[in-house]
Amino acid sequence: MIQKKKVEITETVFRDAHQSLLATRMRTGDMLPIADKIDQIGFWSVEMWGGATFDVALRFLRECPWERLRMLRKAMPNTRLQMLLRGQNLLGYQNYPDDVVEKFVERAAAAGIDVFRIFDAMNDVRNMKVAIEAALRQGKMVEGTICYTISPVHSVDYYLPLAEQLAELGVQAICVKDMAGLISPYAAYDIIKTLKSRLSLPVHLHSHCTSGMAPMSYIMAIEAGVDRLDTAISALSQGTSQPATEALVAALQDTPYDTQLDLKKLGEIADYFYEIRTRYAEFESAVNNRVTADILISQIPGGMLSNLVNQLRQQKSEDKLDAVLAEVPNVRRDLGYPPLVTPTSQICGSQAALNVLSGKRYAVIAKETRNYMMGFYGEAPGVIEEEIKQKILGTKQPITCRPADLLQPGLEKARKEVGDLATSEEDVLSYALFPNVAKEFFLWRESRANAKGALAAEASGS
Ligand code: CO
Repeated sequence: MIQKKKVEITETVFRDAHQSLLATRMRTGDMLPIADKIDQIGFWSVEMWGGATFDVALRFLRECPWERLRMLRKAMPNTRLQMLLRGQNLLGYQNYPDDVVEKFVERAAAAGIDVFRIFDAMNDVRNMKVAIEAALRQGKMVEGTICYTISPVHSVDYYLPLAEQLAELGVQAICVKDMAGLISPYAAYDIIKTLKSRLSLPVHLHSHCTSGMAPMSYIMAIEAGVDRLDTAISALSQGTSQPATEALVAALQDTPYDTQLDLKKLGEIADYFYEIRTRYAEFESAVNNRVTADILISQIPGGMLSNLVNQLRQQKSEDKLDAVLAEVPNVRRDLGYPPLVTPTSQICGSQAALNVLSGKRYAVIAKETRNYMMGFYGEAPGVIEEEIKQKILGTKQPITCRPADLLQPGLEKARKEVGDLATSEEDVLSYALFPNVAKEFFLWRESRANAKGALAAEASGS
């Protein structure tokens, strides 16, 4: 007899689904009316914070991300709230000092995050350790995360020791994060089977439908014993987003893996989001809604492609796009096969463009390429040829320590700089992550409060 093993679901509609399909623009006001219904479904967790949502809320929506967290926490008392955290980068694009990382995780936990999915673009555990330990100290759950990619160095033999290192840090689950939607059904089977047989931790798979394979890969992952899967409610699923929640729930009904989730209630949630999605039409892109099998050859994620096109357009060199795309894998090989995810995707893309536009490889070297070679992003997965190293660094020697060891504490400095504009510890953290964006938001908030105060005074006749 097959042993019954319910597959658990993380719903991504409040984070990755709209980050993937609607340029991360969903507002808190469009989340709150449906939060109670989502809370009643019985999802293992709901991913609703982190990734790009923090930056976008401050930068474009004029919303305080911390307030969103507190409001959703209140609206969803029965469901684990989950966030995506880029290790020492937190939610930004650089390494932050340890005191900032620790305080950020502490405040996020206090405001309501139950599950921290912690990853690093380079899969360098040193860049994840401080954040992982901080979350565990708060008594919260951590999914130690492996960024999945394809290269000559990325095999199961590479991922297993990585997972073991994360397990040693005390994480409660391992997540395989296939951020570009590259994982094939049989690759998913192999990696999940290996992790399940060698570790005694739950394994969670995260993928995207970009290449069209994710639903198949999910089924194979289930066959291999995966414990949890990420899906998005149908209205914001597929394309560059996750497989549809309802489809997976239906596929597993009356099997040993039955999720026990209610399809009718899920349908009501989908109806809500079909309507919501129309409000964000200006952020939709046709490319996000098709099967992009190209990615299987080029491995160039959609976001990276649009960045490259923009960069070439600015140089009036759009005709060089094919040459640049052909150069990207060469640069990636030269840099020791980093996974192509922020920020390494931009580094490889920009350097490939420079190599083509200048007419000679590494005749012009981007600052970021040099920093990468110096080890400031972490350790490269593969070997870097001595010749390439010399071309990029000259006589300079790369660092051998953890990149964040080179940083001075940052919290008190941020507190001093932001001054009275910050009205809470959370504000200080927002400022420490995104000084300019946060400051602009605080000024706007202050002017709005003043205007409201003036209106109120006028209304009361004083
Ligand atoms: Co994702």
